[in-house]
Amino acid sequence: MKTIHVDLGSRTYPIYVGANLLTQGPLYQPHLIGKNCFIVTNSTIEKLYAEQVHQTLESLGQKVFRIILPDGENFKTWQTLQLIFDGLLEFGADRKTTIIALGGGVIGDMAGFAAASFMRGIHFIQIPTTLLAQVDSSVGGKTGINHPLGKNMIGAFHQPVAVIADLNTLTTLPPRELAAGLAEVLKHGAIADLDLLSWIEKNTDLLNAYDLNALEHVVVRSCEIKSAVVAADEKESGIRAHLNFGHTFGHAIESGMGYGSWLHGEAVGCGMYLAAELSHQLGYLTQAEVSHLTNLIKALHLPTQPPLWTLDQYIDLMSHDKKSHAGKINYVVLKQLGQADTQQVPPDMIESTLLATGAIKK
Ligand code: NAD
Ligand code: GLY
Repeated sequence: MKTIHVDLGSRTYPIYVGANLLTQGPLYQPHLIGKNCFIVTNSTIEKLYAEQVHQTLESLGQKVFRIILPDGENFKTWQTLQLIFDGLLEFGADRKTTIIALGGGVIGDMAGFAAASFMRGIHFIQIPTTLLAQVDSSVGGKTGINHPLGKNMIGAFHQPVAVIADLNTLTTLPPRELAAGLAEVLKHGAIADLDLLSWIEKNTDLLNAYDLNALEHVVVRSCEIKSAVVAADEKESGIRAHLNFGHTFGHAIESGMGYGSWLHGEAVGCGMYLAAELSHQLGYLTQAEVSHLTNLIKALHLPTQPPLWTLDQYIDLMSHDKKSHAGKINYVVLKQLGQADTQQVPPDMIESTLLATGAIKK
């Protein structure tokens, strides 16, 4: 097992990465302050992994309750959040209750938001069971829900007290979900680590084949990169925005297609292609570098063909991005492979980027 720390002073917390961690009581024990725990999960993950977690917590003397939500990005809503509060209040949760977020990014974001707001904030432990959640969403304390007008628009920063990433859970992931997680890994390489990019290139087959050693490498490296960024800029006033590389275009695709149609990671994969093309239009990346990144996106079985919409549709969808200020959108671009920056972009560059990538037609 490897342990990475997210260094946030008195709120510093560990990320444990390894095989067969779900049943390791000593990993949970130091992070439980009260006598009861609420496992928040969904109907799919409950069948696979809730029992192991439930029994482990009971063996530590905890009273354990389960709150089971419907499965899917389209349920990342206010209405589903209410189901968590209903369960917490009905079964007597208090300020010392620990929420256990068992699942992918949807569960982690919603259970985390419930933990941020229930009784003005209680502890939660992230147990990410998708690759995307292990390499990205379980780390860094962004929690929230979607609004029909924009992705992740309502939420709070609330850090977990620990992250337990059990690599064995990845063996049951459907291939599309594996690829979606690899998109965020590729993102970490593209914005911050050329070595990771070359490592992915050399090990694509192993990653696509669910090789646990290869997956451990990218989970650990991603958590190291993300932890360092979060420790430097927890509330995203500066470099944390780099983690949104590909997300301005990606969120537009994801919400424009209807939540759940494209997976978040698929939209980010395609969004990185558009953002790389934008970086080329701005004179930062060569055409060869754009092709290099695009080939990697394809090799990880991620889409690179954006939906064909009008310029107005894209601009409208992107204007809801959280990085926009006073109506101006900030884009994350690559100054070079492995180095990101944010900047406002003239509208004609967006148009030429969308044209060059086939997202719009003349
Ligand atoms: P998800 O949570 O919807 O999980 C994907 C699917 O896999 C679901 O059907 C789930 O039930 C299933 N599943 C989960 N674990 C499984 C397993 N081990 N075996 C089999 N099936 C399993 O999707 P996701 O990709 O994990 O997360 C996407 C969400 O994360 C989006 O809502 C996105 O906005 C959010 N996100 C948040 C952050 C953040 O910093 N908070 C970062 C990136 C993404
Ligand atoms: N996934 C972007 C962030 O955590 O900031």
